[in-house]
Amino acid sequence: MAFTDTVKIQLPDDRAYEIRIGAGLLDAPASWHGLPKASAAVIVSNETVAPLYAERLRRQLEPLYPRVDLVTLPDGEQHKDWACLDRICDHLLREALDRKTVLFALGGGVIGDMTGFAAAIYMRGVPFVQVPTTLLAQVDSSVGGKTAINHPLGKNMLGAFYQPQRVIADLATLDSLPDRELRAGLAEVIKYGPIADPGFLCWIEDNLDALLARDKAVLGYAVRRSCEIKADVVGADEREQGLRAILNFGHTIGHAIEAGLGYGVWLHGEAVACGMVLAADLSERMGLMPTGFVERLRRLIERAGLPVQPPKLGGERYLQLMRVDKKAEAGEIRFVLIEALGRAGLHAVPDAVIVQTLSAHGAA
Ligand code: NAD
Ligand code: GLY
Repeated sequence: MAFTDTVKIQLPDDRAYEIRIGAGLLDAPASWHGLPKASAAVIVSNETVAPLYAERLRRQLEPLYPRVDLVTLPDGEQHKDWACLDRICDHLLREALDRKTVLFALGGGVIGDMTGFAAAIYMRGVPFVQVPTTLLAQVDSSVGGKTAINHPLGKNMLGAFYQPQRVIADLATLDSLPDRELRAGLAEVIKYGPIADPGFLCWIEDNLDALLARDKAVLGYAVRRSCEIKADVVGADEREQGLRAILNFGHTIGHAIEAGLGYGVWLHGEAVACGMVLAADLSERMGLMPTGFVERLRRLIERAGLPVQPPKLGGERYLQLMRVDKKAEAGEIRFVLIEALGRAGLHAVPDAVIVQTLSAHGAA
């Protein structure tokens, strides 16, 4: 194994857990020791990831659990829905699996969010482990306990806060990730710079080519630093009473793009990347950031091969979609804006200013 880093996420009531990061963790027995004991483990994965990694995970779990099942779901953001959630629950109930059963989410953020939600609601809660296999899931979605499915009217609208027992991020699984998915994951890595760590933003600018070339040491640092930042934020505000909202930089417009185009047309990371450019524009327009910030972020996002031009859904449609954002209050749309490099906050933005930004980017 090349190396293993551990980031701890501190939470009350014995819910602290470890994020282990390294190349080769999937096949290392130590990764799986010390998890809750149970008479059954259920691996939840999809038809793309299961053929690549499920048997290898099963081999590790079989010495530890008398029974190891596999539930394989269809692949895609459009399947992050009630029907697929039901398929996980159907299996658990049909097989009469008890409330100690441990679920293992093997895949990207879609599988992680759905498995976590199933774990939260099955018999009012069973333990689960995140085994993220996309960059996006390793740097963001597997950490912090947000679980959800989509609704046609809004992204991630049905879900629960429910923390995993452990996160095992095997960097070697990223070898099979398509380039487009790697780039989508970079969007969430880039996000952490402006909201929390200007030094990390410079580091990403300097190391972008090595990240795109999948240099393991560089990827490992990107995953670790992202997880450290997220762990600090979630440790301070698990249920998004305030601070945690900063993790949604770029997501208000990003979620509108995803729902507006239909889930799966743009990848989540692509929509967030473009959403960050527009949120940066709003930060400048609202007088929080000096001129030049949008251009700096746009250049980095473009170099990462991510979209900077939003789809032309029309101003009214964007506003309608953003009014169902979880951060909206009493119909008022609120954005995470950058207040200074490394510091972000929630801001209500007048519709007219939002439309100016959308128009300036050819989206209104
Ligand atoms: P995804 O889960 O759809 O995975 C992307 C694609 O890569 C899929 O086709 C998947 O089958 C494939 N794949 C996964 N691992 C692979 C591997 N190792 N090799 C080859 N192919 C592989 O998408 P994602 O970008 O991982 O996650 C996006 C989802 O995460 C969205 O639904 C988003 O809302 C959610 N999310 C949640 C949080 C959170 O805090 N819970 C945070 C960010 C994003
Ligand atoms: N991805 C946003 C959050 O976890 O809060």
